[in-house]
Amino acid sequence: MKQIAILGYGIVGSGVDEVIREYAEKKRSGVTLSVKYILDIRDIPDSRVVSDFALIEEDPDVAVVVESIGGRGAAAEFTRRALSAGKHVVTSNKELVAEHGAELLALAKANNAHYLFEASVGGGIPIIHPFCQCLGANTVTDVIGILNGTSNYILTHMEQNGASFEEALKEAQKLGYAEADPSADVDGLDCARKICILADLAYGRHIPPSNIYVEGIGSVTTAHLREANKAGFTIKLLGRAHQAEGELPRVYAAPHMVAKAHPLAAVSDVFNAVMLRGSVAGDVMFYGRGAGARPTASAVVSDILDCLRSDDPLCGFAWSADPLDIAPPQNAPGYIFADGKKMRVLKNN
Ligand code: HSE
Repeated sequence: MKQIAILGYGIVGSGVDEVIREYAEKKRSGVTLSVKYILDIRDIPDSRVVSDFALIEEDPDVAVVVESIGGRGAAAEFTRRALSAGKHVVTSNKELVAEHGAELLALAKANNAHYLFEASVGGGIPIIHPFCQCLGANTVTDVIGILNGTSNYILTHMEQNGASFEEALKEAQKLGYAEADPSADVDGLDCARKICILADLAYGRHIPPSNIYVEGIGSVTTAHLREANKAGFTIKLLGRAHQAEGELPRVYAAPHMVAKAHPLAAVSDVFNAVMLRGSVAGDVMFYGRGAGARPTASAVVSDILDCLRSDDPLCGFAWSADPLDIAPPQNAPGYIFADGKKMRVLKNN
């Protein structure tokens, strides 16, 4: 039996535990999964809970470590130690992947282990694997995504129900969508980290989130949403990456006026969507729940299964740690609201 250790028993960690239990009951494939350890510093009444990572690191029964601590402190240290001990690591930690993904993928490879992060972008939407596997014949030049469930939930509820920003944020927190510190959601940093991960995969080099233009939804008001509606648009926080022939890539995260006829305009609530433009396939779109315990656990547990079943789950996809130069975002023809606020525009395709 393959044993698993879960680091951090918050919304994601406890969701992963629940889904592994369901999976074990249904026995959907030849792989049997069992959680041997939960690492958490809190006093949780569960005999699997430990507070010393060394127990996990030194236990040869543990094949897969789920890092659901978040951030770049203990999460980074335990990920490096687990990979160095030859254990696979699976994570939803977009901050760590966006900042140190190249190094951790290389460390995994050097130790014959896998570092998988399907849950780091788009919650339950399969996007990393399709990018690396099913679109392997393509050069991906463009990525446009609604990548933050909390922001999309807030904008939807402000637009459709006249909710205030604060009311909608509180609801998103109650539903387990928001980060522990929701400023990363509403200030655009979470979206920035996710578009950087997709751009890293597309362009093969590290794009530090601190190098890209980032703007959140904090200054979007219900009056802007009403005005956008009248003009035939809705407002969405988008992550975008684009590379024209012979030019440096442009990567950024910002609110956009999205034409109602554009497929991304219909993506509401906690849902995320990602559009990729492949050199062979053309436009491809992925859609699903972008946050929440169970959609995230769906991606994490699928990654665990992949670690145990496949020799090369990402088909050799990785990126260099050497940062890539990017161009400043274009001054796309913007929309100017009645109060003078300017916003980028995404017209119909
Ligand atoms: N806080 C994130 C979001 C969670 O709202 O999208 C999923 O990464």
